[in-house]
Amino acid sequence: MTTSTKHILVTGGSGFIGSHLVEQLLLQGARVVVVDDLSTGDIRNLSGAKHAAGERLHFISNTVTHAFATLNVERFDEIYHLAAAVGVRLIVDHARQSIETNILETTAAIRWAIRDRAKLLIASSSEVYGKGIRVPFSETDDVVFGPTTSSRWSYGYSKALDEFLTLAAVSESNLQTVIIRFFNTVGPRQRGDWGMVLPRFIQAALTGKPLEVHGDGSQKRCFCDVRDVAPALIQLLRSTACLGKVFNMGSDEMISMQELAERVIRVTGSVSSIQNVPHEKVFGKGFEDLQVRQPSLERIRGAIGFTPLISLDATIADIARSLGSAHTKEYAA
Ligand SMILES: NC(=O)c1ccc[n+]([C@@H]2O[C@H](COP(=O)([O-])OP(=O)(O)OC[C@H]3O[C@@H](n4cnc5c(N)ncnc54)[C@H](O)[C@@H]3O)[C@@H](O)[C@H]2O)c1
Repeated sequence: MTTSTKHILVTGGSGFIGSHLVEQLLLQGARVVVVDDLSTGDIRNLSGAKHAAGERLHFISNTVTHAFATLNVERFDEIYHLAAAVGVRLIVDHARQSIETNILETTAAIRWAIRDRAKLLIASSSEVYGKGIRVPFSETDDVVFGPTTSSRWSYGYSKALDEFLTLAAVSESNLQTVIIRFFNTVGPRQRGDWGMVLPRFIQAALTGKPLEVHGDGSQKRCFCDVRDVAPALIQLLRSTACLGKVFNMGSDEMISMQELAERVIRVTGSVSSIQNVPHEKVFGKGFEDLQVRQPSLERIRGAIGFTPLISLDATIADIARSLGSAHTKEYAA
């Protein structure tokens, strides 16, 4: 089947990564259905896509579970399951709802893929590595989590369970799938209100407010532009050799949070200052942050030759531009 005739479901498609993925799929000529309950997504993220693709994009405002129960006339060739409760703030504040969302919606996505005999991409997370036993994190590493009494770890546990569910369906139902462990993915449309560091820094820089660095700022992360990530997701799901496997996705170039704040101030030409705030003040007593989070990209490089091309400075500049210009077009579903 050629790409142009593919019928594709994207759950969480009006979110940050999802909306960029939808644009890529539509560019390749596919017909795309988005199922999103708009809990953290925004319909305006699909304005440009709707404008360009017209009837080839259909939006359903619902949870995955409900859409699966009611929508059984359409058959999909591919399902990209991105819908989830995302963001440390959201998970810590609404742990039960977040765990239920991540487990139940993934269960529905798996059942949907089995029913349609569709290929399924599952969005997992670097949080599956828990505290991490060594750097860089490799897909076959053992994992060590904190205790269940600390809700901070529930996101990682829930994503790990999603992976178990998916891999069980591979062996029991011949599900064709790839599992993607996203490391920090950044770019235009990402929201800062649930704790995502880069949009939060840039928002502060643009309004002259202090950039709040949690802890002493020595913790290191790797940031990859969503416009490098989105096309690679399609490539991974369509490569037969990748099916049934787990992949780290991201950049392996590390930067400390203090350096990141300084970089944002420099690139945006801001007059903001940097303020260090203890983790406990932001997330409550006993919150544990990882000192270093870096993916091994050996597997994904070997599989599809993945190499991020967009520099962090260019990403920061583009996010700043997009935050500076309000959404202008409304998407009429
Ligand atoms: N952005 C990152 O750095 C990152 C890192 C690790 C993992 N991930 C994973 O990637 C995926 C996409 O994340 P994102 O950064 O685009 O976040 P996002 O919040 O922008 O996207 C999630 C989307 O899912 C939707 N959603 C939530 N619950 C839903 C439900 N029950 N039914 C239907 N839709 C629902 C939201 O409205 C939103 O549009 C998630 O699965 C997330 O766990 C992202």
